[in-house]
Parts: sequence; structure tokens; C-alpha cells
Amino acid sequence: MERTLIIVKPEGVQRGLIGQVIARFEQKGLKVVGLKLMQIPREMAERHYAEHAGKAFYEGLVGHITSSPVVVGVLEGPEAVSVARTMMGVTNPKAAAPGTIRGDYGIDIGLNIVHGSDGAESAQREIGIFFAPAELVSYERAGDRWVAGE
Ligand code: RTP
Ligand code: MG
Repeated sequence: MERTLIIVKPEGVQRGLIGQVIARFEQKGLKVVGLKLMQIPREMAERHYAEHAGKAFYEGLVGHITSSPVVVGVLEGPEAVSVARTMMGVTNPKAAAPGTIRGDYGIDIGLNIVHGSDGAESAQREIGIFFAPAELVSYERAGDRWVAGE
């Protein structure tokens, strides 16, 4: 089992898409093990987006993610990182395939609805930024074996 961090970005919250985005991950079979609405402080956004520091879009990115509330979540499941990334679609929603979250809900690269960790290591790092260990809950769902097998 693997865990990944997802963020329903400010545009997703403002457009009333929290439920639809989370529902897609749930329907896929990923388990929500952490979830909260928050307004990200600048310092936290800078840590989260450290890999992009210095890039042309960095200031806009940090300004945007801190501009309005987001929903951050931790999803658990087999290969959760790559499964969630595939469901999100490519970074630019104009190019994202229909059926993906970005492909279905977005059109501007800066307003691409959702963030997802891009690897196991970044998932660990990002989960640590947004969640204290006690905020993450390990639990069994009655249907788990009907999703992931034995
Ligand atoms: P994310 O981190 O949000 O899941 O997206 P990603 O891996 O697909 O894309 P990444 O390269 O990590 O970029 C992070 C976010 O920065 C914005 N961006 N803008 N204007 C631009 O050229 C540009 N490039 C990236 C996007 O909102 C992207 O999600
Ligand atoms: Mg990224």
C-alpha cells in the first residue's frame, strides 16, 4: 500500500468541485486516510513548492495556492501515487485527456484544479508538511478486498 497527497486547489474549492474531485478518487478505490480544509500559509506553500523556487511561474504559484482555501487529503491504495496522477491528467488542462480531472474541469495551466504528489518520496515529504501523524487514520473498509484483492 502507498499513500499520496492531493490538494483540491483554490479554483476547485471556489468552483464547488471539492466533492466531485474527492468522489473520483473514492470511486477508483483509493481510501481517504486524511482530509481537511485550510488556507495554506505562505511559509508552508514555499516548502511544498520548493522544487519550483526560481522558476518564472513560482511567485504566481505560491501566491495562488495561498489566495483562498484548499482541501488537502491523503489517499491510500495500491500504487496510489501513480494512480492519482493518471486520474489527474497532464499539468496543462488544455492537453489533459477527457476523463481526467484536469481534462474534464480545467482549461488554464495555473488553474488546473488538483495537485498530486509525483513520486513516493515527494508524497512522504508533502504529507509531512500538511499532516501531523495523529491526523492520519489507518482503518479497514469492508469493501477493501473487493478493490485491491486479497
Ligand atoms: P502539481 O504539482 O500541482 O500536481 O502539478 P504537476 O506536477 O503536474 O506540475 P508541476 O510541474 O509540479 O507544476 C506545479 C504547478 O505549477 C503550475 N505551473 N504553471 N505557467 C506555467 O508554465 C506553469 N507550469 C506549472 C501548475 O498549476 C502546476 O500544477
Ligand atoms: Mg508537481
